[in-house]
Amino acid sequence: MAESLRAEMVRMTQEKPDYQALSRAGRIIREGGLVAFPTETVYGLGGNALDREASRKIYAAKGRPSDNPLIVHICEMEDLYRIAAYVPPMAVKLGKRFWPGPLTMIFQKRDLVPDSTTGGQDTVAVRLPDHLLARILIREGGGFIAAPSANTSGRPSPTLAEHVAEDLGDAVDMIIDGGPVGIGLESTIVDFTEEVPKVLRPGYISLEMLRETIGEVEMDPGLIPGEGKPKAPGMKYRHYAPKADLTIVEGETEDVIATICGFAGKAREKGEQVGIMACDETAGRYPLGIVRSMGSRMREETIAAHLYQVLREFDHLGVREIYSEAFDTPRMGEAIMNRLLKAAGHRVIQAKRQEENER
Ligand code: TXA
Ligand code: MG
Repeated sequence: MAESLRAEMVRMTQEKPDYQALSRAGRIIREGGLVAFPTETVYGLGGNALDREASRKIYAAKGRPSDNPLIVHICEMEDLYRIAAYVPPMAVKLGKRFWPGPLTMIFQKRDLVPDSTTGGQDTVAVRLPDHLLARILIREGGGFIAAPSANTSGRPSPTLAEHVAEDLGDAVDMIIDGGPVGIGLESTIVDFTEEVPKVLRPGYISLEMLRETIGEVEMDPGLIPGEGKPKAPGMKYRHYAPKADLTIVEGETEDVIATICGFAGKAREKGEQVGIMACDETAGRYPLGIVRSMGSRMREETIAAHLYQVLREFDHLGVREIYSEAFDTPRMGEAIMNRLLKAAGHRVIQAKRQEENER
């Protein structure tokens, strides 16, 4: 059989699901194939979570190390109890408040989930996504879909179906194109397998929102560079790496703009152009370079939603250097900066202070 059939791309919206196509997609999953689909966070690369061969196919398609476990997606809260050995009351509380939604929770697994899905771990990550097309597909596909982000390992997660086609068009059987995703950053991951629940990956649901609901929650200390290993195997890789060298410039806004303009000027002297990641409030202040606004600082969710898309765009444009403003916004700043810092390989510089009279 031909190995690399180009994927069938099917367009639909949550307002108007194509039930026939979704039922075909469900059959593909039940028969061991792969379907990429939209969720509210990023596009996922789905296969039957209970089928060890399907999980192997997922790892192969992404070029992902086989010790990096997959998240199992469900469409009904009750299904959690079929794959998790023990669900503590605090997790039930979080589930009631944030599911369906951008939250993944980790529990001791039941034998139903094969080791190949969990990368050899005896724990399983579970998520109930807030996207109608995803939930219909999960139901049609048998109830348990393993789905990592639908990008090639090491590239930014896909926020459009076109990104999926670019990375995995030859490796999947079908791509469900539901348009741009809503959030644009992967789900918040909370681990319930130790005494105190821990955030293994920051996301749209912030530490404060979790603490409001269940009290004690900690950040995985491994998320801070130099503080040991992150507990989620996927967080140790230099994900989201753009082809260009990305540098984050921190400091007062005016200093940041002047410093980045300085780099853009130097690049122009060498006949080169830098990429600049800015926001609506500052984009007009950069006369040189290729400037992209990710969104408004007044609406931080717009910045989160466009981060990966802008990184991919700069890959296509072939710039060699990218400079980004820092985005420590109040609620999603933790998640945005976690991704941006990884994309930058933690290269952060302090903007040079401008003399008052230069301002
Ligand atoms: O928003 C999302 O979560 C998206 C959409 C498609 O649902 N999925 C996603 O999956 O981001 P992926 O595979 O790209 O990231 C899963 C992360 C990895 O860092 C992995 O190491 C961690 O979750 N993970 C999964 N199962 C785990 C487990 N049992 N223990 C520790 N970490 C786990
Ligand atoms: Mg991923």
